[in-house]
Amino acid sequence: MNEAKLPEAWETLQRAAREVRRRAWAPYSRFSVGAALLTASGEVIMGCNVENASWGLTICAERSAVCHAISLGHGEFRAICGSLTGVAVPCGACRQFLMEFGGDLLVLLDNADSPAGTPPEVVRLEELLPRAFRML
Ligand code: THU
Repeated sequence: MNEAKLPEAWETLQRAAREVRRRAWAPYSRFSVGAALLTASGEVIMGCNVENASWGLTICAERSAVCHAISLGHGEFRAICGSLTGVAVPCGACRQFLMEFGGDLLVLLDNADSPAGTPPEVVRLEELLPRAFRML
């Protein structure tokens, strides 16, 4: 059963994810994705997907947001909102990447084509990646 509740800042996260999505570098797939992370200190850090001619080097929006946040000195996260056309469940690689910072993370699945202010579905990362590989 899904008991996760939307964080208070969900509309801010949705707005940020949709905004950064417009800056996606996606000339190959033409599929733009935005992500907005809510840090423990209440800041919102954004990331978009960055594709590459070699395809395999492409970085998803979720990982891009985490790298951006870590580079700014943040290391504790409460929620992430992904925004794309469809259901914004993060890919398997991003689930593992996010899990590094804890399975309690709330994952907001924003369909960018829904009107702004439409509450996204929310799930805990642990639900998306049960029995994750960990070293710590
Ligand atoms: N993509 C993301 O940014 N996040 C996901 O969770 C799934 C996929 C990107 C990668 C690629 O640039 C494009 O979407 C199509 O797969």
